[in-house]
Amino acid sequence: MKVMIVGGGGREHAITWAVAKSKRVDKIYAAPGNAGIAELAECVDISVMDADKLVAFAKEKEVDFVIVGPDDPLAAGVADAFLDAGIKTFGPRKNAAIIEASKAFSKDLMKKYNIPSADYEVFDSAEAAMEYIKTAQLPIVLKADGLALGKGVLICMTREEAEDGIRELMVDKKFGTAGDKIVIEEYMTGREVSVLCFSDGKTILPMTSAQDHKRAGDGDSGLNTGGMGTFSPSPFYTPEVAEFCNRFVYQPTIDAMRAEGREFKGVLFCGLMLTAGGPRVLEFNARFGDPEAQVVIPRLKNDIMDVFEACVDGTLDKITLEFEDNAAVCVMLASDGYPVSYKKGFEIKGLENFKDKDDYFAFHSGSAIKDGKVVTNGGRVLGVTAIGKDLVTARANAYKATEWVEFDNKYMRHDIGKAIDEQ
Ligand code: AMP
Ligand code: GLY
Repeated sequence: MKVMIVGGGGREHAITWAVAKSKRVDKIYAAPGNAGIAELAECVDISVMDADKLVAFAKEKEVDFVIVGPDDPLAAGVADAFLDAGIKTFGPRKNAAIIEASKAFSKDLMKKYNIPSADYEVFDSAEAAMEYIKTAQLPIVLKADGLALGKGVLICMTREEAEDGIRELMVDKKFGTAGDKIVIEEYMTGREVSVLCFSDGKTILPMTSAQDHKRAGDGDSGLNTGGMGTFSPSPFYTPEVAEFCNRFVYQPTIDAMRAEGREFKGVLFCGLMLTAGGPRVLEFNARFGDPEAQVVIPRLKNDIMDVFEACVDGTLDKITLEFEDNAAVCVMLASDGYPVSYKKGFEIKGLENFKDKDDYFAFHSGSAIKDGKVVTNGGRVLGVTAIGKDLVTARANAYKATEWVEFDNKYMRHDIGKAIDEQ
């Protein structure tokens, strides 16, 4: 079978790695891919947003199966373009990807179907939002309605911060049209857990749990980023929590989407907060998380193509997901200055250390090939993932492996997985 992967981040590198392991796959294309993916797939320089070119390429190469990785093309209907051209495609259609692309939509859905989440109001005018926060309880959370690279959420401790936040999102349009509407939400406290679930629209199968570290600096300081590191499984996701989420979050959400005429096929990423009052949904994403994928996918025992195909065919009830009884930690190596401004184009050295090692991975996020050398090409450069028999071992292994790689302006957090010690 010929497979094409749309995307070029660490998530797509992890997906490509798993697809390359499948006995059923003969050839892999990636658009646009990156320097790491290029070792496993033939990369073609087509933008993830250029549906016409992507479909034309897939047709020309007689691609049998497409996987769309990132949120932007899913929100823009790139999966629809492939499906409408008769190509089997893993990833939700635009009308289902809205569960991520509009926070107001997902909040309204949860309210309508009694899925536990924070109380909220939606505003499409800055004046009304300003009026609301005059009397709202603090702290309070502001969320841009649309996609904002995971950075459109502001936790405001004071009314002044909230006013500044509303101005930033709705008046100054820091995230463009994503801030035309905002959600203002109750502040919750608790442990965060991410559970990525495969769904065929009717059946939903949760994968092993993971946890992201979103802030740029140690001790959760600094700005929100796309994710600075992850670990899996989360020791806080107990069987009781899992049982609750199966009954009251995952299946009800998939059923709600179907009832709304928005059948969801793909990965439903459930960001959960384990509050004193029980698990509640922080957000939904319509795709694998990045870097959650880098710790979850390496632990999956199934042939990933079997699972992808069952999601598309509506036969997920025939699949049993299996994960290795081990743990994984991913430490993101970034360019110093991320997520604000940073230099790129520096040579990445030491990647050969990962060759022929089953338990260590360097999943490329922002890398490129320049003059035959692998160079940095983004804020998040490489996700260094290591497996271990438990989380403490996996973390020690991951930090050891971060030393194998060198590039100018290399930056990482030093406390990925630290919460593990508190279990
Ligand atoms: P989101 O992109 O909606 O998951 O939000 C990004 C991060 O902001 C989450 O991972 C949480 O750490 C935090 N956050 C979002 N919503 C809330 C909330 N209602 N209460 C407290 N923290 C939140
Ligand atoms: N790591 C968070 C996300 O992929 O949205």
